[in-house]
Amino acid sequence: MPKVSSRYEGLGVGFAPYLQPPGPEVVRLTVGEPGFDTPREIIDTAISELDAGKTKYTRGQGSVELCQAVADYLAEHQDLEVSADDVLITPGAKQALLYSFMISTMPGDEAILLAPAWASYEPMLQFIGAVPVHVSVKPDDYHPDIDAIRAAVTDKTTMILINSPCNPTGAVYTPEEIEAIVEIAVEHDLWIISDEIYARLNWMDYPHVSPASIEGGAERTLIVNGWSKSWAMTGMRVGFLTGPSAAMKAAIKSQANSASHIPTFMMEAARVALSCDDAVDSFNEEYKKRREILIQGLSELPGLRVGECEGAFYAYVDITGTGMTDIEFADGALEAGVQLIPASLITGGEGFVRISYAADEDQIIEGIRRLKAWLC
Ligand SMILES: Cc1ncc(COP(=O)(O)O)c(C=O)c1O
Repeated sequence: MPKVSSRYEGLGVGFAPYLQPPGPEVVRLTVGEPGFDTPREIIDTAISELDAGKTKYTRGQGSVELCQAVADYLAEHQDLEVSADDVLITPGAKQALLYSFMISTMPGDEAILLAPAWASYEPMLQFIGAVPVHVSVKPDDYHPDIDAIRAAVTDKTTMILINSPCNPTGAVYTPEEIEAIVEIAVEHDLWIISDEIYARLNWMDYPHVSPASIEGGAERTLIVNGWSKSWAMTGMRVGFLTGPSAAMKAAIKSQANSASHIPTFMMEAARVALSCDDAVDSFNEEYKKRREILIQGLSELPGLRVGECEGAFYAYVDITGTGMTDIEFADGALEAGVQLIPASLITGGEGFVRISYAADEDQIIEGIRRLKAWLC
């Protein structure tokens, strides 16, 4: 057999080893996937589009109507002024991230990530030859350490990647922190990639703020978002990318020469989803309830420190007080019948586990009961 290219050597797979579906008897608090069914209206639209023959090639950028709906959505929910011409609909947010990394870096360029960062960023950057530079967040509240970010900028840095609300820490960066990051980017003429996939899952009393809404931010920010989380559409694979026109021309070229477009019948379904505010709101009410149950339950367990869980649907838990490593903790928890993720699988996550409260409420309650029986 010919040799597989060396591009894949040493490339990580993030949380994958701990995301394998366990047996049905195990409580699974690992996956970042809403337990809710996709809203009926979205499914019905996809089916009727299929029935109507929307199964052929179509406009690569995304239907004109869907691109406009995204621009309208950003105006309504984030007060952002975006032209529909500068919106690209992608197969999931992941593909939008890949394009954004390709646009903002060349091989050898450095990209600043705030560690611990979502597991796919590092391998995706390495895949295209960029160099991930991890800057630790503050250990007490997982918010950005602005001085450390500033100190990490070199003459090779071309981009800062942020993800707020954050997977895995749940941190929601304050408007002042976003402003400070934009200031650094302006000072050094850097791109900002802003992964806003959890933008609607903010449990704080201050708003989620996009760097694109801050003076000097719009011309250097690429916003990544998608339908997977807030609309429970993980398997439908729809995301979007938007940013300055020159960058979006490059993004459209990237898609034209790779994925082509999302499934044609999903264009209208994704457009309909953007107006399903009732579903998003009712999911959020459930997440808030589950968050309370999880925080309360975890706080009763010895050796665990659980923070605010400010947004997204993850509790990022310091388990160093148990005397175990995070791998030992996760393996012990699995033996006790609970699957969770040891964060040392990603850079900067040593001593922490990530627990998802996207799982059903009864599963969360049972998971806590089992952890209590194991640890107390
Ligand atoms: C921070 C973050 N960005 C992007 C994604 C990918 O989303 P999508 O399903 O739209 O590709 C995820 C999924 O877990 C995520 O947690």
